[in-house]
This record gives sequence, structure tokens and C-alpha cells, in this order.
Amino acid sequence: MNPRTSLTRYLIEQQRVHGRIPPELRLLIEVVARACKRIAISVNKGALGEVLGSAGSANVQGEVQKKLDLIANEVLIEANEWGGHLAAMASEEMDGIYAVPNRYPQGEYLLLFDPLDGSSNIDVNVSIGTIFSVLRRQNDDPLRIEPVAEADFLQAGAQQVAAGYCIYGPQTTLVLTVGNGVAMFTLEREQGSWVLTQDGVQIPEDTSEFAINMSNMRHWDAPVRRYIDDCLQGREGPRGKDFNMRWVASMVADVHRILSRGGVFLYPWDKREPHKPGKLRLLYEANPMGWIVEQAGGAASTGQQRILDVQPHTLHQRVSVILGSRNEVEHIVRCHQAFA
Ligand code: AHG
Ligand code: MN
Ligand code: MN
Ligand code: MN
Repeated sequence: MNPRTSLTRYLIEQQRVHGRIPPELRLLIEVVARACKRIAISVNKGALGEVLGSAGSANVQGEVQKKLDLIANEVLIEANEWGGHLAAMASEEMDGIYAVPNRYPQGEYLLLFDPLDGSSNIDVNVSIGTIFSVLRRQNDDPLRIEPVAEADFLQAGAQQVAAGYCIYGPQTTLVLTVGNGVAMFTLEREQGSWVLTQDGVQIPEDTSEFAINMSNMRHWDAPVRRYIDDCLQGREGPRGKDFNMRWVASMVADVHRILSRGGVFLYPWDKREPHKPGKLRLLYEANPMGWIVEQAGGAASTGQQRILDVQPHTLHQRVSVILGSRNEVEHIVRCHQAFA
């Protein structure tokens, strides 16, 4: 791999060599990547940049919005609204969809994002990130004059044409798939360029490391309790090996670790809000991360079905998330089947 392959070169190759993406989608990904660089600048300012703390408002999820949630949201909207490649956007931080300012013909793509993932870590200087997912309007007839609607976004994750995240950690790293494996680009700050630092990412099929918020244990359903109980018994227990635990509380950081060395991440349904199947949102957290994990040889399940097969009914719907090393996810799915 050429040590200085840029994001642009990678995308041109995906477009021209592999025929994976059309020029408009290449442009869209470049714009999102540039927006992530802009967000990284705000993130890195911290206390020096008036970006910490609460914005004093709440989002449709009922969460208190942090200043950086809103800054990141604004950056992504401004970067994308006049690119000509989008029909509309949807965000964790916006109640409904945002149809880009009228022009004719409209772009064919739908951009969904979690502008700032891991908000509880903003004020304590722990890695956070941005997650994005791209869908196509199912009817890409440029002469279509019906306005884009929320229903256009309600597509299963298997319909994604691009997905990625940017992690703002010790390095700023963009992780991307367009369906041809997973590539990682590290931000070379002096020049502000994304440099390909890993391609063809592969998650180890087995692991002895799980990521879950253990304080919720009493609320979990039986299969997850059984799985974690078995792991905690270590080599003397049914799993026959000792396990390690990690929980960053930034999905991007836990997923990045899993892409880098394997592991399994769980944010399962719990009985505190029985009508909500979990905390994480399907369209702009579970689907992009699920596709990335699958493209890296891992698996992503609700416990009952493949995450990418879930048919969405609402924009901000939540889903139970179990993803990571393929054999471990399959073991957890079998735990669910045993209780079915
Ligand atoms: P967000 O900050 O975008 O609302 O997402 C936070 C999510 C996810 O990043 C993380 O895995 C999870 O919330 C952590 O939840 P707990 O704080 O309940 O552990
Ligand atoms: Mn949030
Ligand atoms: Mn999030
Ligand atoms: Mn968020």
C-alpha cells in the first residue's frame, strides 16, 4: 500500500477501478470528511474554545444537548446543504428531516448522522466521534418533484451505500466503507490531509473481551445475563477462558477498539424502558456501525436478527445492539435462541 495514499485517491480508485461509487457519492464522502476535520478543530480546542458544557437545550431523544453536539450538527449541515448531491439529511440532534434548500434537480442521496457520539465524554477529555450513514432515495428519478419525506429514510441498513465514523482521540481517524471492505485514514494535521493508514481491516473472529455497561445488569434480559455470567466465571466456567472488560461509553471508541483488536460490544434491551428495545439509534448508530463491522468480517445482531435487516418504522427508533467478533456474536445469538 502506497504509504501516502490519500482519501481522494482511495475514493477515485473505488469509483474508477472498482466501480463501487459514482462521482456524486465520492463528492459527498469528501464533503463529510472535510466537515469531520472542521469538527476535530472544535473538539481539540476544549476549554479554550467555548465548546464544553451544556447548550441548555434537549433533543428529541430527551437528552440534554452539549454545545459540541450542536456545533458538530451545524458543521455537517452547512458543509452539505449546498453540495448538490443530497436530497435531505437526518440527525440525532434534529427532530425531523432537513430537506436541503430547493434546487432542481435534487440530489439523490440521504445523509444521516450522529454528529457527536459519546457526548458524556466531551467534558472529561475522553475520545468521542461522529458517525454517518448514506442511503439513496429509492426512486432516483431526477425529474421527480415530490418533496423528500421521512419515509425515504426508513430503509433497512442493508441499503446503505456508504458508512463511516470519525474518532477524535489521540489520533483523528476516519473509518469508511463503501461496500468494498473497511479503510482507515489518519489525519495528518500539518497538511490537514487524510492518509490511508489501514485497508482491508479484519476483526479477529474470536475474542475474550466484552464491552457493556455493567451497571445495567439487573435490568437485562435473561440471555444477556446468562452470557455475561458465563464470561465472568472465567476459565473455571462454561466458557473455559478468562475475559476482560472495557466500556468507554463512546460507541465510536469501543467499535474502533473492536476493529483494531477484536471484541464484542453490547447495548441490549433492558426493562427500564420496555417499549424501547435499547438505547442506541438504528439509523445513525447501529446501521453504520453494523455495516462497518460486517465489512470487516464481524457480525452485528439485535439478538434476534441481523441489525442490517431491521425494517425501520421511525427516524429515531432504537435497537438492541450486539456487534463485533463473529464467533462471539454468534455465541450470544445462540444464548438468545436458548431462551426463545
Ligand atoms: P450519544 O452521545 O451520541 O448520545 O451516544 C452515546 C451512546 C454511545 O456512544 C455509547 O455507547 C452509549 O451511549 C453509552 O451509554 P451509557 O452512558 O448508558 O453507558
Ligand atoms: Mn446523544
Ligand atoms: Mn451516539
Ligand atoms: Mn450523539
